[in-house]
Amino acid sequence: MKILIGYGSNTGNTAYVAEVISFALAEHKVTVQNIKTINIETFRDYDLLIFGTSTWSNGEVQKDWKDSLSKFNKDILSGKLVALFGLGDSVMFPEQFANGVREIYDSVVNNGAIVIGYWKNEGYNYIFSRALIGEKFCGLIIDQDNESNLTVQRVVDWIKELQKDIVNYINVKN
Ligand SMILES: Cc1cc2nc3c(=O)[nH]c(=O)nc-3n(C[C@H](O)[C@H](O)[C@H](O)COP(=O)(O)O)c2cc1C
Repeated sequence: MKILIGYGSNTGNTAYVAEVISFALAEHKVTVQNIKTINIETFRDYDLLIFGTSTWSNGEVQKDWKDSLSKFNKDILSGKLVALFGLGDSVMFPEQFANGVREIYDSVVNNGAIVIGYWKNEGYNYIFSRALIGEKFCGLIIDQDNESNLTVQRVVDWIKELQKDIVNYINVKN
């Protein structure tokens, strides 16, 4: 499977998590790229797109995502398999924890993508998060500021779920 991991990162945390995810997916052909440098036309070359962002300002997506999100369209994303990951700080920002990833979620869903890799909302301490869709997060959530000791295990567990979702998707499709 050809996988693109596109991330936006101010201080390197999301970039780091992108690398950890890439490592955990080593059996696949994975490209890790900063969203700043990605031409969205290249999304067509991949079987799975994994998008990651941190949260900034008043609970917003990392700034480098804005330009790409404004260009997202159905022609490129409709029917495309997408998984998401979001970073936040649950101690400093418990009322808007990891909100930013929701902007990417809304955009890909509105453009017809199929989101996989929803993630359990257990084991996190926060008050409110826009990343929550029903009872699950719309993707893997990481708190690198306060719980970096959990990051690798969270990635490993999430990848296991993601692999199951991929198999289910392929079975349903065929
Ligand atoms: C000024 C500022 C605003 C932030 N706003 C939020 C926020 O609203 N919600 C949240 O969960 N985290 C927030 N964070 C925490 C970052 O998302 C977190 O540190 C993240 O790991 C940074 O990742 P990056 O280095 O990849 O950008 C904020 C951090 C700073 C410094």
